[in-house]
Amino acid sequence: MTKQKVFVTRLIPEKGLNLVREFCDADIWPGEMPPSREELLSRIRDVDGVLTLLTEKVDAEFMDAAPRLKVISNMAVGFDNVDVPEATRRKIPVGNTPGVLTDATADMAFALMLSAARRLPEGQKYVRDGLWKTWHPQLFLGADFVGATLGIIGFGRIGQAVAKRAQGFGLRVIFCDPTAQPAFGASSVDMDTLLRESDFVSVHVPLNAGTRHLVNVEFLAKMKSNAILVNTSRGGVVDQSALFDALKSKKIFAAALDVTDPEPLPANDPLLELENCLIIPHLGSASKYTRDMMSFLAAQNLIAGLKSERLPNCVNLEVYKA
Ligand code: DGY
Repeated sequence: MTKQKVFVTRLIPEKGLNLVREFCDADIWPGEMPPSREELLSRIRDVDGVLTLLTEKVDAEFMDAAPRLKVISNMAVGFDNVDVPEATRRKIPVGNTPGVLTDATADMAFALMLSAARRLPEGQKYVRDGLWKTWHPQLFLGADFVGATLGIIGFGRIGQAVAKRAQGFGLRVIFCDPTAQPAFGASSVDMDTLLRESDFVSVHVPLNAGTRHLVNVEFLAKMKSNAILVNTSRGGVVDQSALFDALKSKKIFAAALDVTDPEPLPANDPLLELENCLIIPHLGSASKYTRDMMSFLAAQNLIAGLKSERLPNCVNLEVYKA
């Protein structure tokens, strides 16, 4: 049987790539950088399926450029880069990779919380700059975890995994998510209570029209002055200009961001000047096992779509309704 044609927009881990190669006639973009838009649109002209990353904008223009497209498999749990209503309108199933990155992302949220609370980047810079002369009782004093309150916004898989870790650190945990039930000792509160009481605020919501710039001037104004904001969700959830003002004026103590808008941040972005803003390059799911599993789930979604079977992880199940 002839293999169906697919385009894979980057060299994903072998675990997924091998599966794609076994079942598909695969064109795999070899570059370290994503294909340009022009290159992308020309490579998908006659494909039956695409395996995309969060760096690709999969919109109506993309779908027009690939008239035979039967499946969009996005190697991420987030799918804000895909115009899902448009795909649904065209009856194209969209796959994502939930579950396998929950622990790695929750670990990263914790690593960011600890790093910002105990001022690790500042300490490292101080040592590297040759400024470390002696032990000093007041050097880089940070925040304690035991007895502090962690507020989790969005209590889905990743938010709950963060709460589970927080139990071991002696944190009191509260969360705001009208769709979730209490778990791992965390209590449900409204947003104002969460912002008023939290020493750490960790954001775990998907990016959509309702959450864009959720963290804005008003939100930041309600936070405690010692509070640390952690974002491992999507950069667009935070109004970065409001965050800059809040950090610069010490309205809040610090922020630790795995994600920004845009990615990467331009070299002259003002957030990069701030010592109380820790920024890393979207590494939440960046562990060997996690990325292997994400590539595997993405390959499974792709292949199921090519076979016109239900995707194991489909974000627009409406496409299967008659
Ligand atoms: C996702 O899967 O959405 C993550 O942001 C990738 O790390």
